[in-house]
Amino acid sequence: MIKIITIIGARPQIIKAAAISRAIRNNFSNRISEIIVHTGQHYDINMSKIFFDELEIPKPDYNLNIGSASHGKQTALMIEGIEKILLNEKPHSIILYGDTNSTLAGAVAAAKIHIPVFHIEAGLRSFNKKMPEEINRIVCDHASTLLFSPTLTGFNNLIREGFDPDTKPPYTIDNPRIYHCGDVMLDNSIYFSEVAEKKSGILKQLNLSPGKFILTTIHRDNNTDNPERLNAIFSALKNIAESQNINIVLPIHPRTSKLLRNNLRTGLYQAIKNNPLIKIISPVSFLDMIVLEKNTEMIFTDSGGVQKEAYFFQKPCIIMRSETEWKEIVENKAAIIADADETRILNAYEHFKKSNKILFPPIFGNGKASEFICKEIILL
Ligand code: UD1
Ligand code: UDP
Repeated sequence: MIKIITIIGARPQIIKAAAISRAIRNNFSNRISEIIVHTGQHYDINMSKIFFDELEIPKPDYNLNIGSASHGKQTALMIEGIEKILLNEKPHSIILYGDTNSTLAGAVAAAKIHIPVFHIEAGLRSFNKKMPEEINRIVCDHASTLLFSPTLTGFNNLIREGFDPDTKPPYTIDNPRIYHCGDVMLDNSIYFSEVAEKKSGILKQLNLSPGKFILTTIHRDNNTDNPERLNAIFSALKNIAESQNINIVLPIHPRTSKLLRNNLRTGLYQAIKNNPLIKIISPVSFLDMIVLEKNTEMIFTDSGGVQKEAYFFQKPCIIMRSETEWKEIVENKAAIIADADETRILNAYEHFKKSNKILFPPIFGNGKASEFICKEIILL
């Protein structure tokens, strides 16, 4: 039996972990035993617990309850807590997801005491090192033994950084193995799509008609913390809602929620808060999110995960960042990078309103990435 520790902390990692936990439960329970460690990076009920309940994720075996803090403090406390657990549990390896501070902490803690790291979502690069996530991804990849890239671009980024695609076993941190294996979030979106349709009442709750609203999410620090960018984004959203008489639905990340009043111009803040077309709601469950994504006209987002889900559900996406690590969706013309620029956001919206022939070729695998990953893990 291979004993693996999975580290999660932020919302998207909890959701991603559902896919691997499900694959272990269904097909590898006699080969892999999983211990789940929650760093506590996200802790509000609707940023954490809600996902365990609805996505059949086993309750964490450990919760470090680290909570929010500066990058240095948060990461340091996580490293200390994770190291203790690793020394005590002596796992065969650890699984890390994505690019958050919880990912970074897991990578540093494990690599320093020679526990192999398996990185899911390896190789992604925005080529913008001012993004905290870019630093986290690079460090984690270079501390990993097995690197699972969801896209060909990610796989090629790793080769460009010196990873050899033809290494032979035994794989180690000094002889790592890279894979292009598809995206575990596609596995999840397929698996939960039907369940979501049955269980979610979000459209009724918000009085929304399919195809007659825009879904948006905003949480990147360089948008939320920069008043100029945040004003440009909200001014564009208000403009579109009013000129098109269309609802905008914004499940608001706690970071954004806390900064909205301070960072928006008073007039714009009031106009947004009192606008019946703009529905700012608490973060929703993943099943509700899937139903919103499937039924929206279009998605406006700065989230990494939501960009991909727009593609999975064949919705045009306007990316409110200056670059994306999901290059393929822009190359396929299914998404437009509009940054936090009001004119570019409005133009992108006009463009997608007119274009009706977007193609969504399968660039994220076949929905079986989790099984592939588990098979490789048991071979190590
Ligand atoms: C983190 C990740 C980001 C990921 C995002 C997913 C890092 C550096 N960033 O960003 O890559 O896209 O999660 O959502 O790891 N807060 C609450 N309640 C919570 C969690 C956070 O109120 O349950 C508030 C706190 O004020 C906190 C702020 O949100 O200071 C930011 O949280 P943090 O986890 O530091 O970063 P995110 O912006 O969530
Ligand atoms: N998500 C959710 N409820 C919400 C907003 C997002 O379930 O209110 C899901 C979304 O479907 C995706 C993941 O959270 O699977 C993305 O997380 P987030 O945008 O916080 O982080 P990122 O992907 O940018 O790291």
